[in-house]
Amino acid sequence: MFFEKEVKEYLLNPEKMPKHIAIIMDGNGRWAKKRALPRKAGHKAGAEALENIISDANDLGIQHLTVYAFSTENWKRSEEEVGAIMDLLRQYLKSHFKKFLKNNVRLDVIGDVTRLDADIQEQILEITELSKEKTGLAVHIALNYGGRDELRRAVTKIAQAAAEGKLHPSDITEETISMALDTAAAPDPELVIRTSGEERISNFLLWQIAYSEFYFSDVLWPDFDKKELQKAIYYYQNRDRRFGGR
Ligand code: FPP
Repeated sequence: MFFEKEVKEYLLNPEKMPKHIAIIMDGNGRWAKKRALPRKAGHKAGAEALENIISDANDLGIQHLTVYAFSTENWKRSEEEVGAIMDLLRQYLKSHFKKFLKNNVRLDVIGDVTRLDADIQEQILEITELSKEKTGLAVHIALNYGGRDELRRAVTKIAQAAAEGKLHPSDITEETISMALDTAAAPDPELVIRTSGEERISNFLLWQIAYSEFYFSDVLWPDFDKKELQKAIYYYQNRDRRFGGR
């Protein structure tokens, strides 16, 4: 493809920046394996890559970044690996939130957090509260997140409102559903990135990606850097988006 050739710099059009980018951060395990390191070292490197991408996206003027950090399916991994990711999350929230606040970044979590350890839930509440007025990049971290589970929870909320007589079933619109999702506060992502050469959606933002552009990169997540992000945005800016029209 034309954008595959080595370009020193990707000249981005500031007028056509996506407002919302969603990323499936994949390949931490393979990154570690290539270096004969334990899987948790791959996740640690992945968390560092995320920290850099948050700054880069903020610098580029992106308004929303949603990252898939832990899916409803990830509980099936070994206890050791799940524990390592949770510990990393604790450290991450603790050590980075001051930097986030300083850089005007707002932190939000999507997914069913009730299954996370109580101390992590408290950290999340504290940080989301402290950063809620920030006007820079909004980072939505997907934790214990699954698109189908999110839709199930949204349907439950809507059905509850209908059962209580607050909403008539014939008044349910697409907007009603969007507003009942965890992502109610963000526009749908225009661009979805998945790293590590895998080309699946893996239960990520199923409703919200109806018109998204997809960008699949062979780069393993810990190696995904600003240049790769610019390349993905460059690809997006050169797509012809028609939304089903001509
Ligand atoms: C996918 O790589 C990555 C995950 C399931 C976890 C994502 C976690 C991070 C990026 C770091 C943690 C960040 C926070 C904020 C806690 P994989 O393990 O599926 O890689 P593989 O397919 O190569 O095995």
